[in-house]
Amino acid sequence: MGGASNQGRSILSQVVIVGAGYVGLTLGVASARAGHEVFFVDINPVTVSKLNQRISTFYEAGLQESLDTLFSHRKEIAFASMRELSQSTQLSASIYIISLGTPLGPDSRALLGPVEAVTQEVASYMTESDLIILRSTVAVGTSRHLLKHIPAITNLSFCPERTIEGKALEELSTLPQIISGNSPRAEEMARTYFNSITQTVIKAATLETAELIKLASNSFRDLNFAFANLLALISNQHNVNVNELISLANFRYDRNKIAHPGLVGGPCLEKDSYILAESFSGKHTELLLDARHLNEAFPAQAIDFIKDSGYSPNTKVLVCGAAFKGKPVTSDTRGSFVFEIVQGLIELGVQNDNIVILDPKVNESIHGIQVINQYEQLNSTFDYMIQLTNHEMFESSEFDNYVVECCQQIISFWPKNTSVSTSNAKHLFLGGLHST
Ligand SMILES: NC(=O)c1ccc[n+]([C@@H]2O[C@H](COP(=O)([O-])OP(=O)(O)OC[C@H]3O[C@@H](n4cnc5c(N)ncnc54)[C@H](O)[C@@H]3O)[C@@H](O)[C@H]2O)c1
Repeated sequence: MGGASNQGRSILSQVVIVGAGYVGLTLGVASARAGHEVFFVDINPVTVSKLNQRISTFYEAGLQESLDTLFSHRKEIAFASMRELSQSTQLSASIYIISLGTPLGPDSRALLGPVEAVTQEVASYMTESDLIILRSTVAVGTSRHLLKHIPAITNLSFCPERTIEGKALEELSTLPQIISGNSPRAEEMARTYFNSITQTVIKAATLETAELIKLASNSFRDLNFAFANLLALISNQHNVNVNELISLANFRYDRNKIAHPGLVGGPCLEKDSYILAESFSGKHTELLLDARHLNEAFPAQAIDFIKDSGYSPNTKVLVCGAAFKGKPVTSDTRGSFVFEIVQGLIELGVQNDNIVILDPKVNESIHGIQVINQYEQLNSTFDYMIQLTNHEMFESSEFDNYVVECCQQIISFWPKNTSVSTSNAKHLFLGGLHST
């Protein structure tokens, strides 16, 4: 776990990040903070233009401030392609980091094509002593596949990204970083690079181990949440308050760490179980997929509840939360259930004008409905409020007062009564549907 050697320091002075999204941009900022010279390559012209104006493309705690202060030494830091970068800059990069998105294809398998194409392109610019770090989430075996098909790669390291959106910059310098490599040099370079960013760097025995660690971490959480959500459904059938049940089951009983039910969204959890399942050719991957499907179906209960409780085109609905989560705060709507909730309401026949979406950080329109950032802007009453995230705004007593006064029925996926002492829920919540 040793620190950066002088030799390592000089090798690691230039870092090229290909794919400047949530993962690439935050890692680039962490690298610049550690003293590396960082360049970004991104296919999206808006991203390139914004980064060259030092404007963050999304909200992440501390990101804008870091862009303001860390990249003052040169004008252009972002480029549309490796070719443009190499034409405008004397490349002496020793580290190329690939952090492209890896969405699922129609067959629910991670799309490998873009990562492979970009790696091929990067490999054509690298020297024998350079390193490619694969940071995207991939199926197990992908790193080895790239090495086999792209002979120009001499050193390849897979280093899983495990930070949480909203606290990524903090966690990049505090979480242990797991590294792996196809050669001792790859391992050593990855270790030295990450040691310049964070204190604890751990070597996984193989590329596959590191790939699997990423998938195991997220699938484990997905399974845990699915179990809690299943308990919520079972509790509902028996008129049991699921949060009371879980709090009591966990209380001073260390063998239990049952999660509380809730929505499981976001760009990683929505796909990583599929990628883990894809990585195994044996039986029993249904365990992962059933859990995923349960979590995917969970929010539909809100629509079912409204269907059963009564509605008309004039029914007014306030949807609270458009980002995929409320804590830590993010503006990311990828993998958010707001899309299908609003779609579900529209399909019921609720008029667009009667749906209001509230989220303090999101500046988008969802199915044509512009998200509002402050509830003080609202001046109507609602038949239903659906709370999709636990943003602190929705947990303030002022907001509570507003909701109690202005919303007839509350459907919350984030009930507050998570502790035994406050189990007298007054809000309706899924997994124990109580009405106000
Ligand atoms: N978001 C997270 O918190 C997180 C956490 C862990 C792992 N991951 C994984 O990291 C990877 C990246 O995730 P993300 O959230 O940063 O995705 P993202 O969509 O925010 O960023 C990907 C970036 O790559 C760019 N890009 C796409 N094709 C390109 C190409 N051919 N050349 C150059 N740039 C290209 C896109 O324009 C985009 O800016 C994914 O595999 C994801 O699963 C994400």
